[in-house]
Amino acid sequence: MKKDKAAKQRKANRKKWIRKVRKLRKKAKQERRLKELLKQYGTDILKSDNFLGSEKNIQHGNVSVMRHSISVAKHSLLLAKHLGIRCNKRDLIRGALLHDYFLYDWHSAEHCGLHNLHGFYHPGIALKNAKKEYRLTERQSDIIKKHMWPLTVVPPRCKEAWIVTMADKYCSLMETLHLHRGGKRSLRKRKKSRLHKKK
Ligand SMILES: [Fe+2]
Ligand SMILES: [Fe+2]
Repeated sequence: MKKDKAAKQRKANRKKWIRKVRKLRKKAKQERRLKELLKQYGTDILKSDNFLGSEKNIQHGNVSVMRHSISVAKHSLLLAKHLGIRCNKRDLIRGALLHDYFLYDWHSAEHCGLHNLHGFYHPGIALKNAKKEYRLTERQSDIIKKHMWPLTVVPPRCKEAWIVTMADKYCSLMETLHLHRGGKRSLRKRKKSRLHKKK
């Protein structure tokens, strides 16, 4: 009886392990595909000095503006796929990468005062900066200009802009709460579950 029980347990553990490996493989494949798409449509942005320079400016929590923009681009692609929305991937990715192209540290005393109202004005500043360096399509401009809706009052005009607006809000919330991948709380959670398994 005891042997039967142990064999059953081993079988169940093996099944659980196979499911976990499959899930991890699927996630890794998805991550590779997202990276490929970002490279395909946004290499020039990803390699530019100003974009790389935004790594030194914090956006939310401990996430830099550069990491946040890449994360928003990836989540926009995932959201479009999940909702089954066919959209222009090039515009979606480039708009998402440039949506916070304001190029300053908004936490500095110079920019974070109430009188500066970063939340209201940075889409306009990002659009102006992006236009100086890149030839933007109407959709890309709409994404950058309206991503802070409803703060920007006028709603987005294209589905790509709606998707980036939603992805931006999701990423901002996760980053603020440190729940994004690699965030403090998610790391703590993983450590806790590992300890729990050892017991
Ligand atoms: Fe923004
Ligand atoms: Fe953003």
